[in-house]
Amino acid sequence: MTTEHHKVLSANLDNENLHQLDTYISLGGFEAFKKALKMEPAQIIEEVKKSGLRGRGGACFPTGVKWSFMPTNSDKESYLINNADESEPGTYKDRLLMERNPMLVIEGMLIASLAMKAVHSFIYVRGEYAFPYERTKDAIKECYERGYLGKNIQGSNFSHEMTIHRGAGAYICGEETALMESLEGKKGQPRLKPPFPAGYGLYGKHTTINNCETLATVPWIIQNGGEAYSKIGVESCPGTHLMCISGHVNKPGIYEIDMGYPILDFIENEAGGIRNGNKLKAVVPGGSSTVVLTAEDCKGVNIDAESLKAAGSAMGSSAMIVMDDTTDMTEAVLNLSHFYSHESCGQCTPCREGGHWIEKIFARIAKCEGQETDLELIEKVCGQIGGHTICAFGDTMILPYLSIIEKFKDEFVAKIKKSNSSKSLLDRRALNFELGAH
Ligand SMILES: Cc1cc2nc3c(=O)[nH]c(=O)nc-3n(C[C@H](O)[C@H](O)[C@H](O)COP(=O)(O)O)c2cc1C
Repeated sequence: MTTEHHKVLSANLDNENLHQLDTYISLGGFEAFKKALKMEPAQIIEEVKKSGLRGRGGACFPTGVKWSFMPTNSDKESYLINNADESEPGTYKDRLLMERNPMLVIEGMLIASLAMKAVHSFIYVRGEYAFPYERTKDAIKECYERGYLGKNIQGSNFSHEMTIHRGAGAYICGEETALMESLEGKKGQPRLKPPFPAGYGLYGKHTTINNCETLATVPWIIQNGGEAYSKIGVESCPGTHLMCISGHVNKPGIYEIDMGYPILDFIENEAGGIRNGNKLKAVVPGGSSTVVLTAEDCKGVNIDAESLKAAGSAMGSSAMIVMDDTTDMTEAVLNLSHFYSHESCGQCTPCREGGHWIEKIFARIAKCEGQETDLELIEKVCGQIGGHTICAFGDTMILPYLSIIEKFKDEFVAKIKKSNSSKSLLDRRALNFELGAH
């Protein structure tokens, strides 16, 4: 039986004209923005703080607190960026919002811009998202034509410009400072922090970067009040979120669920259980760069920031990847390592070189050509990546590697043993040479 969840983001999604301004307005759209126009910026921030909303981009940082980092009295302009780069494997929720309800995204951005006195906002869309880009671009155009963007919006003294920009398909451009570099027309590589974006962001201006879903949640909060939102879900991590589920389940897709919903109930009730009546083996709970959980680990764990943290993992970008008991974990981790080694921006040596070496070692283990010292070697290389790079790409890439090895060690050891019994010493030396580890 499916549990009833609140509909903060998915209400009206079945209306196929929702992306058009008239339909959106007829369903109560832009009421929250009009309400916000009558509020002081500090009041809007206070309401968002009260709601307890935590960012949906991966780090679960409290949104209202982030907004309050923006200066209130500065000669420099302020900007807002909507991070819609969405490239984390397993994650496709922002795509749904941009395709089906782009006006909600724009309304959330306008309210955030009022709160932070941003004069210009930018949507950075993942390069591969051609249709969401077109839909949102059309929605922006309609808003300009109808006085919801541009000068003196709806007769108020609030003016605001909005630009949508399509990335070129690089995962790293989801990292906020790489995103800003890319928007500025440079190579998308992360900046050193500090300075932080609120002080020196896009084109050196004060900038706040929020995830697309985070911003789309804001109209509901302003319309219904921060307190009402804080009562949904769990106290430490309130509200609802769009949860993506993929992998070996009967009904993969996106479901809006209240925070604090048990993982196993979600898999069973919403996602229709494991395919072919198989058994659950492993769950990556928050997008590919989070610690993997075994079926046993999942017992009693709920989908919210604190519960997942207590289980040793994270909410990440609300993207669950489910694996059944037919999964070869040596192959699964090889697949992941291929993604990360390909997507490293190449700026930091430990990530650029280490990621590539790890993929090669995982490849030889999966092919039953590994060596006794390989697991130790991978751990060593991971240790040289974590904490030694400019951005969090390296830190998070190693989380699934280390946790998969730790929790499914038998599978790796069995393949390595098989290779040791079937390979001559000469063959193994040749492999070492190929790896550059001689
Ligand atoms: C390698 C890397 C990739 C990221 N990709 C995304 C992304 O695609 N979308 C996103 O919203 N945040 C992404 N983030 C997190 C952003 O840097 C940033 O924290 C987030 O957009 C803040 O939004 P929030 O406060 O609303 O969560 C990524 C971070 C890293 C390190």
